[in-house]
Amino acid sequence: MKQPPSKEEQGLWEQILDYSNRANPYPLYAQLRSAPVTKLADDSYLVSTYAEILSLLHDPRVSSDPRRNPQALAAAAAAAGAPGAADEASPEEVSEASQSFLLRDPPDHDRLRRLTMRHFGPPNAPRRVTDLEPRMLEIVTELIDDMEGRSRVDLVEDLAYPFPVSVICELLGVPAEDKPRFRVWVDRLLESTDPNLDAETRMQRQREAGQDLNAYMGELVAAHQKDPGGDMLSAMATDDGPEGRMDTEELVSVGLLLLIAGHETTVNLISNGALTLLRHPEMLQRLRAEPDLAIPMVEELLRYEPPVHFVPFRTAIDDIDIAGTTIPKGSAITLALAAGNRDPRHVADPDRFIPDRPNNAHLGFGSGIHICFGAPLARLEAQTALTEFARRLENPRLVEDPPPYRLSPLLRGPKHLEADIDGVLAADHSGAP
Ligand code: HEM
Repeated sequence: MKQPPSKEEQGLWEQILDYSNRANPYPLYAQLRSAPVTKLADDSYLVSTYAEILSLLHDPRVSSDPRRNPQALAAAAAAAGAPGAADEASPEEVSEASQSFLLRDPPDHDRLRRLTMRHFGPPNAPRRVTDLEPRMLEIVTELIDDMEGRSRVDLVEDLAYPFPVSVICELLGVPAEDKPRFRVWVDRLLESTDPNLDAETRMQRQREAGQDLNAYMGELVAAHQKDPGGDMLSAMATDDGPEGRMDTEELVSVGLLLLIAGHETTVNLISNGALTLLRHPEMLQRLRAEPDLAIPMVEELLRYEPPVHFVPFRTAIDDIDIAGTTIPKGSAITLALAAGNRDPRHVADPDRFIPDRPNNAHLGFGSGIHICFGAPLARLEAQTALTEFARRLENPRLVEDPPPYRLSPLLRGPKHLEADIDGVLAADHSGAP
C-alpha cells in the first residue's frame, strides 16, 4: 500500500478551516481531491472524492458512534476531569448532548429512526410534511410582507432564519415564544462542532449547551406526555405502535435532534440559495417565470452550495482499504461532502450552477443509513422560500459580495445577506401567473 499524502495536504486542511477561506473554499477542495484520502496531522483521515465518500457512507465498518472512537473517549475523559484516562471514560459520557440516532449505529440507530419516522412520513404519517405546505407559504408571506417599505433587507435575519425555525417549532409542538431562549443554546452547541477547537474543548462546550437543551426539552416532553396535542412530539409521546413507545430519555434526545437538525441547515440552504440567485440574475429571472424550476434548482443548490460541507467524527471499526490507502481501525474519518459534490469524475462542469442538470445525485443530504431524515421538509421549505423571494422582491441587489459568513466550516452559510430592493410585490396566491 502506498503511503497517503500528508505534508502539503495538512496545510490544505488548515487553510480550509481558516475563516479567511470560508467565502470560497472550492479551489481548496479541488486541490484536496487530487488525493481521495488524506491523512491529517492528528492521524485522522479526510476523504474528498465522490465515489470514495459514497462508499464510506454505505460501509458498515464506518461507525457514527463517538463511543467507538478512542480519540473521542479520551476527550470525554479529559472533559470529565480525568486527563488521559481514556480507558476509564464511560461511553455514556461521550455524547451527553443527546444526539440520538445521528450518532448511533445499528441496531439502536435503526430502531429509533423507525420510531421517529412513524410520525414524520409514509406509510404511517404520509401527510405530516405535505399538510404543512399552506402554513409554510403563510409564514413566508408574512415575513416578506414585513419587508414592505424598506429599501434594504437582511435575507438571513428577515427570511432564511425565522422561517424554518417557525416551521420546526410548529411541527414539533415547541411554543413560538421559546425561540429566543433555545437559539442561544443551539448556537453554542453548533459552535462546539468547530474542528478548529481541540477535542476536549469541543466536548466541554457540547456538554454545557447540552445541559440547558436537555433540561428544556425534558420539560417540553413532560408537558406533551401530560397534555398531548396534534404535533409530532405528542404523537411520539403517546404512540402505541408495533415497536412500543420511546422512553422519556429517548423522546428528549429525538426532540432535540429534530429541533437542532431542523435549524441551521435549512437556514443555510435558503441563504446560500438566495446568494446564488443574486449572483445569477438570469436564474432569478427564470425562477420568477417558471416556479417549477424551484424543484431541480434546490437539488442543484444542495450540490453546488450545500449547507453541510463535512460529516466529521466517523470512526473506522476495522481496517478499511480505499483508493490505495489503508485507514487503520480506530481512526477518525471526516467526509468532505461539499468536495465530493464538485468532483469532476462525478459531474460535468462541477463549478457551474446549472439548475436543470439531469441525474443530479448529490451528497447534500448524505447517503446510506444516516441520509437526512428531514430532507422532504427541507426541500419544501427551500422551494417555497426561494420561489417567493424571486417572485415578490423587486430588483434585489447584493450589498456585499461575498457576504460575511458564519464561523463554522462544517455548517457553512452567510451570517448576514443584505440586499437592496426597489419594493415588495403584493402576495397573490390566487394561482394566476
Ligand atoms: C437543507 C437542510 C438540511 C441539510 C442540508 C441536511 C443535511 C443532513 C446530512 C448531510 C445528514 C447526514 C449526517 C450523517 O451522515 O452523519 C443529515 C442527517 C439528519 N438530518 Fe438533515 N439536513 C437538513 C435538514 C433537516 C431537517 C429540516 C431535519 C428535521 C426535520 C433534519 C433531520 C436530520 C436527522 C434527524 C438526521 C440524522 C439521520 C440519521 O442519523 O439517521 N435535517 N442531514
